[in-house]
Parts: sequence; C-alpha cells; structure tokens
Amino acid sequence: MTILAIETSCDDTSVAVVRDREVLSNVISSQPIHNDWGGIVPELASREHVRAIGPITHAALAQAGVGIEDVQAIAVTSGPGLAGSLLVGTHVAKGLALRHQLPVYPVHHIEAHVYSGYLEHSDLPFPSIALVVSGGHTSIFLVRSYEHFEILGSTRDDAAGEAFDKISKLLGLGYPGGPHIDRLARDGDPEAIAFPRGLLRDDSFDFSFSGLKTAVRYYLRDAAGAARIEDVCASAQRAIVEVLVTKTMRAAEQFNVGALSIAGGVSANSELRATMQSECDRRGLTFVAPRMDYCVDNAAMIGFLAAARAGAAAPSALDFMVNPKALRAR
Ligand code: KG4
Ligand code: ZN
Repeated sequence: MTILAIETSCDDTSVAVVRDREVLSNVISSQPIHNDWGGIVPELASREHVRAIGPITHAALAQAGVGIEDVQAIAVTSGPGLAGSLLVGTHVAKGLALRHQLPVYPVHHIEAHVYSGYLEHSDLPFPSIALVVSGGHTSIFLVRSYEHFEILGSTRDDAAGEAFDKISKLLGLGYPGGPHIDRLARDGDPEAIAFPRGLLRDDSFDFSFSGLKTAVRYYLRDAAGAARIEDVCASAQRAIVEVLVTKTMRAAEQFNVGALSIAGGVSANSELRATMQSECDRRGLTFVAPRMDYCVDNAAMIGFLAAARAGAAAPSALDFMVNPKALRAR
C-alpha cells in the first residue's frame, strides 16, 4: 500500500510517501521564524504550515516518484499538538481523501515517535522500551506490539527539551537550546557543579526537570558573572542524561526486554546517545537511535505506523477531530 503521510502538529511541516513500511520520501520544512521569539508562537506556526503544506506535498510526491493517483491511503497526525497546526494537516488530508476517494488514517503523534525505532529496524524484537524525549514530551514506554503499548512514566513538569531550552535562555544562548548546550558541554566539566537529579531515587518511571532549571538560575545568580558557561552546560546536561538513562535502563531490566530505542528532538544529544549505547552494550541490549530525520517531527513515522497497523485498523470516517492533548495506553 502506498501512503501519503502528513505531519503538522507543532513547528515542522512534513509530508512523506511510505510504501509497505518503506520510506520513499520524507520532506521536512522547519520554521526558523520562532527562533527570534525564544519559543514557538502558535499563530505563526499555523500560518507557516498554511504557506508550506502545498509545496511540501508536491515535493514529497516528486521525490518518491509517485503521482497522487498512485496513492492508496492518507495518514495524518491528529494529535497531540497545537490545535491550529493540527487543523492545517488534517484538513489537507481530508480534502485529498475526499477528492481522490482515499481512506484516511489519523495517527497519534507520540505513538508514532514510540515506534520510530522500528522504522529502519523492522527486526527489532517486541517487547522493547522506548524513550521519547522532545521539547514537549518525556516518557518511557513498554512497547508490546504495533497495536499495544504501556506508558511507564512521564515528566511531572518540564519536558527534557524544555529544560535544555530554559537553561539555554538563562545562559543567554539561543533557541532551541539543546544544540547550544550540547556543543558547549564538550569543553566543560560535567562534575563541576552538583545540579539536582529530579526523582532519580523515586521508584516510579516519572521525571521532573523544573528543579534543575531553578538550580541553574540560583547558581548563576550566586556566581555573579564568575560562572564558567561550559561547566554549567556540561553539569546540567549530565544531570538530565543521568536521570534519563538510569530510569530507562531500570525499565529495561524490570520488564526484561532485549531492545531499547530513543526518539524525539533531545535524542540528538551526543551525551545521551553515547551513554545509552554504552549502558546497553554493558547489558547486552540492542540499542536503536534512529537517524535524525526520523527522530525529530517527521511524516515518515506517521506513514510507517499507519502502514504497520493498516491490517488491524479500519480507516477513519472523515469527521474525525483533532485532539491537541492526551495519550493513553492501548
Ligand atoms: O522533537 P522536537 O524537534 O520538537 C518537539 O518538541 O516536538 O524537539 C525539539 C527539542 C528542543 O527542546 C531542543 O532544544 C531539543 O529538542 N534538542 C536537543 C538537541 N537538539 C535538539 N536537546 C539536547 N541536545 C541536542 N543536541
Ligand atoms: Zn514530536
């Protein structure tokens, strides 16, 4: 089955063509306009999607070498995300479905991240553990099959990417903050400052990163200009990575899985990738960090999950609504 997949949940417009779980194209257009505002401005995001969705759809079809008449189904992100952004993608999906008499599969954005480890590794065993870490989400999942998963824990306050972004802002670095901190941390001492590890010793698989941001703020105030930025970056990054890795490894052990994957924008972090890899090697676990265009918000993962579930799921009626929030186990 050839699927045209559309993703517009946040600040990336992406369209992909997926044939029988194989990605033929995956075009992503990001929105640098938000960088000037220090965060995503929802109204600007929807306007950028409106501007980009037509050309990106054409580009995805052209790169895949298929015409719209070759497409057999549409997959689209229906939530969670920004309501105005989601509406752009879902309305284009519904319009194409109506015009070309195609079935449409609404896909849950976070569920698509959960399964992106399987995109290039269809032989990855079930059950597995997936860590989804982005600017809006930080959760650990027990993945039992393409149809069933459980949420083991989530952040109780800030997402890990939000922590990177807020700390970057405190340091006067740019937005998004993760890449700046990742880069500067390489020249810093991760042990220089003992920043808090939220909920590290808690039995749950939940996270808390808001205390870290506050600790950095107080540290910078007390240092009164004498702080070494590289050390702050390295120490804050170590605090985030240590909690993410420790809890994910505990989940892998407790549920006795053989494989583990990460996804979401924060999975670009070099220390997170390296530490996950070495801890998985030590335990004999298979570790998958998808290539970056499958880690960030992308339509390939939306088409892939729709394809993987197509045998088990009926397409949706065209009156489905967008769902800006909520994630439940299935
Ligand atoms: O998944 P994503 O592109 O968008 C959503 O939030 O859905 O993730 C963006 C987040 C931002 O918070 C950004 O700071 C973070 O991913 N990020 C990183 C790195 N690259 C991006 N965080 C840490 N290290 C990085 N290298
Ligand atoms: Zn995402």
